[in-house]
Amino acid sequence: MKKFCVIGNPINHSLSPKLHNFWLKRNKIDAIYEKKLINEKEIPKLIESIRKTEINGANVTVPFKNSVIPFLDSLSPEAKETNSVNTICVEGGEIMGHNTDIAGFELALRHINYDVKRKKAFIIGAGGVSPSIILALKNMGCENICLTNRTFEKSEKIKETFNDITIQKWGDIPEFDIVINATSVGLKKENFDLDLDKSGNNKFFYDVIYNPSETNFLKKAKHNGNKTENGRMMFIYQAHQSFALWNKVLPKIDEETIEILK
Ligand code: ATR
Repeated sequence: MKKFCVIGNPINHSLSPKLHNFWLKRNKIDAIYEKKLINEKEIPKLIESIRKTEINGANVTVPFKNSVIPFLDSLSPEAKETNSVNTICVEGGEIMGHNTDIAGFELALRHINYDVKRKKAFIIGAGGVSPSIILALKNMGCENICLTNRTFEKSEKIKETFNDITIQKWGDIPEFDIVINATSVGLKKENFDLDLDKSGNNKFFYDVIYNPSETNFLKKAKHNGNKTENGRMMFIYQAHQSFALWNKVLPKIDEETIEILK
């Protein structure tokens, strides 16, 4: 029996086991997918288990998307560009890091027919997932991207990779059409001290968090008359790509798939 897992800290919120085990069963693949709460010191041991094929593949979530990189043999071009890995697999004996968050975000916006061309995008948060969102927006033709983060230095670090983005001091709100909350605030059921209430009422508010399904960020935006979307479809599409990398099968995304995550 093959074994897959997702590593992170915290990990309790992750619905990856639910989704992957559903697809494994549906496609009659003899494998199991588990979640593993680990700390940073345990990363080398986990990679060793993959090398020994005790584990056949892993997803990586907060806060290890960057810190796993030194332990891998090679990276896909997207993982290299974003310095972010969310999927580990073995290819030709090499432990390889991929980033399927980029395609995940892109497909999630395509799923709802949202076109980012000629739109102003405002990203809140400069953590692990932010470079993937920036690259996805750029791939889709968005030329106006502004980033803010509570810790300013982390925005500056991202600008070193993506030098055509604008960075904004925390608290200053630029004009935008779409705002993406790429922080972990919703996951922790916290709020941040940014005042987005004065930004109008016909904007698009996106939260990468899918559990809880409606963060305070989205609740408030909806109350103010904006269009909102959580990270559920991004989550499903990134998992879809990881599943294909490991099992060479593209599982079906249908109503039942979406329902099991609600
Ligand atoms: P990491 O920072 O280790 O990459 P992450 O979960 O990917 O972890 O990123 C967390 C993001 O949420 C960061 O942008 C973080 O801001 P800081 O860089 O200032 O820490 C942001 N974040 C978390 N809690 C926050 C809060 N209460 N207010 C504002 N931003 C917060």
